[in-house]
Amino acid sequence: MNSDWAKIRADFPILKREFYGKRLVYLDSAATSQKPRQVIEALTSYYNNSNANVHRSLYSLAAEATELYESSRLKLSQFLNAPSVEGVVFVRNTTEAINLVARSWSEANLKPGDLIVLTEMDHHSNIVPWQLAAKRHGATLHYVPFGADGLLDLDDYRAALARGPKMVAFTHVSNALGTINPVQQMTEWAHQAGATVLVDGAQSAPHMPVDIKAIGCDFYAISGHKMLGPMGIGALIAKPEQLQKMPPFLGGGSMINRVEREYSTWAEIPNKFEAGTPNCADVVALGAAIDYLQEIGMEQVAQHSQKLAQLAMEMLLAEGDIDLFGPGPGVDRGGLISFNFKHVHPHDVSQLLDSEAVAVRAGHHCCQLAMRKLDVAATVRASFYIYNNEEDIKALQHSLQAVRKVFGTYNG
Ligand code: ALA
Repeated sequence: MNSDWAKIRADFPILKREFYGKRLVYLDSAATSQKPRQVIEALTSYYNNSNANVHRSLYSLAAEATELYESSRLKLSQFLNAPSVEGVVFVRNTTEAINLVARSWSEANLKPGDLIVLTEMDHHSNIVPWQLAAKRHGATLHYVPFGADGLLDLDDYRAALARGPKMVAFTHVSNALGTINPVQQMTEWAHQAGATVLVDGAQSAPHMPVDIKAIGCDFYAISGHKMLGPMGIGALIAKPEQLQKMPPFLGGGSMINRVEREYSTWAEIPNKFEAGTPNCADVVALGAAIDYLQEIGMEQVAQHSQKLAQLAMEMLLAEGDIDLFGPGPGVDRGGLISFNFKHVHPHDVSQLLDSEAVAVRAGHHCCQLAMRKLDVAATVRASFYIYNNEEDIKALQHSLQAVRKVFGTYNG
């Protein structure tokens, strides 16, 4: 397939915006992606034409809303090759998906003295819920380190597995470094050691082909807003047998079978984990986002962003005044780059880039453990997606000159 990237770019209304008289160069898709008009239209069309509460009423409009909602579940399950459609639970975002597992799975499985294995490159959303679970159940945490090459220390990982952890949770693609972890191999080893596996897919599902069945993990967590969908919708994709054994996360309407005065019984999965009125319109718009990505093809999507990241890395390294973090040029990595000027604080860099209408994120990227490992407080991160092009890399290069103009050149 040969994608028409200019046509794709034209589908994103927000990219026509200007700041300080310059066109917006949006390089923060790892934080949230922009939305094509097809997704925005799906959202308004739902409210204009199909809005009713799902799974409750017998009239035609409600049946249509339910059909739209459930067809998005099927689409998502096929898009990621989920173990089964009833293992797809809609939640707000990756954070909520991981909290669901850390709360409900832990309640059924964690005992005092149990071990949970995480990594130093995990996002806070895959650290804090496990810290809370560990505290509740008396479990301990081990963090697999990463090296200067931005890759996990797999010897340490295997040594940790030899200690018989109950849960192993790690990111597929690091949002701070761009590392792609060997999740299939890591899952296989973890299962051989008897552990349950959760993979944080927030930065992978939007950017590369993902086959959850092939990975083999028990849980996979994603956010819709990073993959062209609306904010406030995400999913936990789980092996159904895991969800069946777990107690509910939230109680309320729709998740019950029978309610008595002293106790209740639960609906079948996935409803057992979808208490209350769900976020129907955003689920439907997420379906439109999946259609959009599939039309391009995920191999194409991955190649496009990764090519831009490689170009940007070469450009950054050419001047000698920049430190690059994570896997270097030539390594198979995600479509984002993390860097710092050797002599300028990342927040100053971000502000000066903004004066050129270049939007990048500067901060710890919700990865304080990774920042501590890199021995920096923060980095500048540029992240790419299907609507970015080589002009954007040139704009980034040009905007870096603004930093050099204000702060002077680096003298070692
Ligand atoms: N997790 C998002 C990021 O990396 C917000 O920017």
